[in-house]
Amino acid sequence: MENEGERLSTGIYGLDQIIEGGFRDKFSIVCVGSSGTGKTTFGIQFLMHGIDKGEQGLYVTMEESPEQIMREAEWMGWDMKKHFEKSLFFIHLKGKNFKKMIEEQLPQLVKARSDYDIKTRVVIDPMTPVIWATQDKLLQRELIGKLFYTLKELGVVFATVEEHSRPGETIGEDVLLPIYLADGALHLEYYPIGGAFNRTLKIIKMRGTHHGESVYPYIFARGLGAIIRTTPIDVVKEDAKSFSAVFDKAIKTAKELKASEEVVNQLQITKESWTYDYSPEEILQIMFDSLKLK
Ligand SMILES: Nc1ncnc2c1ncn2[C@@H]1O[C@H](COP(=O)(O)OP(=O)(O)O)[C@@H](O)[C@H]1O
Ligand SMILES: [Mg+2]
Repeated sequence: MENEGERLSTGIYGLDQIIEGGFRDKFSIVCVGSSGTGKTTFGIQFLMHGIDKGEQGLYVTMEESPEQIMREAEWMGWDMKKHFEKSLFFIHLKGKNFKKMIEEQLPQLVKARSDYDIKTRVVIDPMTPVIWATQDKLLQRELIGKLFYTLKELGVVFATVEEHSRPGETIGEDVLLPIYLADGALHLEYYPIGGAFNRTLKIIKMRGTHHGESVYPYIFARGLGAIIRTTPIDVVKEDAKSFSAVFDKAIKTAKELKASEEVVNQLQITKESWTYDYSPEEILQIMFDSLKLK
């Protein structure tokens, strides 16, 4: 029998540490944030981490085409194409009749897949068009509920929800419903004020989990994705020239600790695109910690 307490490492560096080790299997998670906060990045990172571990990924896209998504991911340092239609699958729902799709076609598709019994991470990005498909609150609730219910058969469902309020304002009414229906909810905010840590994450809820309750800053690093700062760490002041040595040391250590080829590649990409004027030491530490590389 499956262990109820089993946790799936999210692959979003730092996140596992504040949610007791990861998402519970067959959990629905909504990731709420305004445009540009990083919801898609979180989703891809979560999906690619599963694929890296031998799981499968299903990306349900309501807007962009799979090609667009894979192209953007490539820019951020993930090679999705390599896994396309092998362990990574897309369902493109743009312009589709959501009601019909969610009530009839999707359950059939999932049924056909769930017979294989392969752990699959599901990303719905963005889920917003489903909410906007109707004014009828009851129908909205039914559609979102059904979408979660159907896809949770496969594994953890990570759905992004577009938010329209500004940082600091209370959460808008249109995103309350998905938060209410999900097992867990993350809130991303972006304060365009400059500086390294101007993006923050808050855990709104996580059923059956003692989760961190602070506001956690995070950054993006090309090659790695999002890295959340969960504990205050004294950042060593260093001069920019020595950063490549920091990466080389990290790459060497990662290899010694038998990190996957993917992880070593990511570090290499990050090394080449590190243009920040602060040391990567802190984020590397969070990353190693998340991957349990010790
Ligand atoms: N790996 C990364 N490296 C550097 N910048 C990134 C990375 N991932 C995302 N970003 C930046 O963060 C922004 C938001 O990303 P995205 O995930 O598309 O947000 P959302 O889906 O919430 O609109 C992008 O415009 C991009 O500039
Ligand atoms: Mg997006």
